[in-house]
Amino acid sequence: MSSSLRQRMRVSRIALPAAVLMLVGGAVTVQSITPAAAAETTLRAAATKAGLFFGTASSPNRLYPILGQEFSQLTPENDMKPDRIATSSGGLQNTSGADQLVNHAQSNNMVVRGHTLVWHSQAGALQGASQSTLNTFIGNAINRWGSKIAYWDVVNESLEDNNTGRRRNQWPHTMNRDANGDGDFFDAGDTDVIRDSFIRAKQVVQAGGFSTKLCINDYDVEGLTVKGGGPNRKANALYDIVRTYRQYIDCVGFQSHFNDNPNSIITNDLQANIQRFADLGVEVHLSEVDIDDDLSNNDIGAGQAENYRKVVRACLNVAKCTGITVWGISDSESWRSSERGLLFTGSNGSYQKKAAYHAVLDELNKGRGSTPTTPPPTTPPPTTPPPTTPPPTTPPPTTPPPTTPPPTTPPPTTGCTATVSLNSWTGGFVATVRVTAGTAPIRGWNVQLTLPSGATVTSVWNADRTGTSGSVQFSNVNYNGTVNAGQYTEFGFQGTGATSGLTPVCTAS
Ligand code: G3I
Repeated sequence: MSSSLRQRMRVSRIALPAAVLMLVGGAVTVQSITPAAAAETTLRAAATKAGLFFGTASSPNRLYPILGQEFSQLTPENDMKPDRIATSSGGLQNTSGADQLVNHAQSNNMVVRGHTLVWHSQAGALQGASQSTLNTFIGNAINRWGSKIAYWDVVNESLEDNNTGRRRNQWPHTMNRDANGDGDFFDAGDTDVIRDSFIRAKQVVQAGGFSTKLCINDYDVEGLTVKGGGPNRKANALYDIVRTYRQYIDCVGFQSHFNDNPNSIITNDLQANIQRFADLGVEVHLSEVDIDDDLSNNDIGAGQAENYRKVVRACLNVAKCTGITVWGISDSESWRSSERGLLFTGSNGSYQKKAAYHAVLDELNKGRGSTPTTPPPTTPPPTTPPPTTPPPTTPPPTTPPPTTPPPTTPPPTTGCTATVSLNSWTGGFVATVRVTAGTAPIRGWNVQLTLPSGATVTSVWNADRTGTSGSVQFSNVNYNGTVNAGQYTEFGFQGTGATSGLTPVCTAS
């Protein structure tokens, strides 16, 4: 995040008590906030301190004081969509709502995300338009607000549902042509609406001298895997697009509408997926977060607050995850109000904080760093009390010792095992390695892997690494060396090249 952006997001800091009372699942718990003296009391201040923006989506009829108090970023929920502002020839109309939102953001030192230029849905008068007309609209919209818009969603929701990994086939994607029939739209002779829209947007930004960054935004792309552990093909397809058009794309939005759809759950590899996009050099944003609070069928995990904590932590742990935007302020005013996915209840400017709010604030206050997304295993206290009487002394043997030793219970096998799961795409892969302790706790571990020729490790998380190709060693970092008997911890790495069938060798200490 640029220093000017930080400056715009800066707000005053107020000390917070060392602990707050939280109502979680009907029970009051004490949630400690560390460090107490430095804890911030708003999402905005805590996020700014951690070096990211925390935003929300809103509308002109919801410009309440809470916006500028709790949030440092604003996305027009509906007022910059083509069906609001585009004419059929790519001109602008009805921009007063968008203008109001941009002005409100400016006067509250909030960053704006423009949403959205090219989208198959809510296309309004642009529905069916040619690339040339889309380009006209892209130019008009970017030029109207210039650098007042820090991030524009240039292309929104370009990939199919149901984890097929394919592009949508509705307009504007019907304009795509695969000239050589190789199954992608990336070749010089191909026509690609995504590429052409980004090229146009980049030209406009550069010609205007704007600081605006250009994003691609989608949903169900958050995890490396989907429910059941299969690969998230939609995420992989997005990754291929960003990698191929990296010169035009500055940022990626993971919408993060989490619910119990098998492709929309919160997986443990969220952080790893954020990391692999970040490793391409783009900023990653969680751009439209809401988390289903379906308590009767809560199969996306524990409580909503804990799920929020997990999602925020995954972003905080990746330096280039530079912003989180929740999709609205209050449950009752959300597009999915029945799922109660946001951080506040109430309406019309009178809002009450939920447990999820406190969890997010607490997590933001912990800042970035190496806090794992799943808590590190802790060593349990000893379950057998120490002896209170001295052990009896063994009398001298009166009979000769047996020639064969008495059977003894074998000592617990210290040590560990490791397994690797791979998620590959053309030219790259992400490996998730699970280190499982044997029948005794371990205090540290080392995993050796031999990569095939041509494969190279480019980044690693939750482990230290020695080597990048051939024989590569991974060892625990300070928070995940201790693993209780039978328990496991995970680390991951990303690489280029092709790999399969890795055989990890785990050594414990
Ligand atoms: O404002 C009119 C109102 O005058 C009219 O009486 C009423 C009748 O239906 O419609 C109102 O407009 C609705 C608008 O939300 C404002 O509430 C539209 O019908 C409705 O389609 C629109 O839904 C929006 C939806 O996108 C479609 O554009 C949601 O508010 C908005 O939250 C949702 O946001 C999308 C993101 O853009 C992309 N990602 C998914 C996300 C959630 O669906």
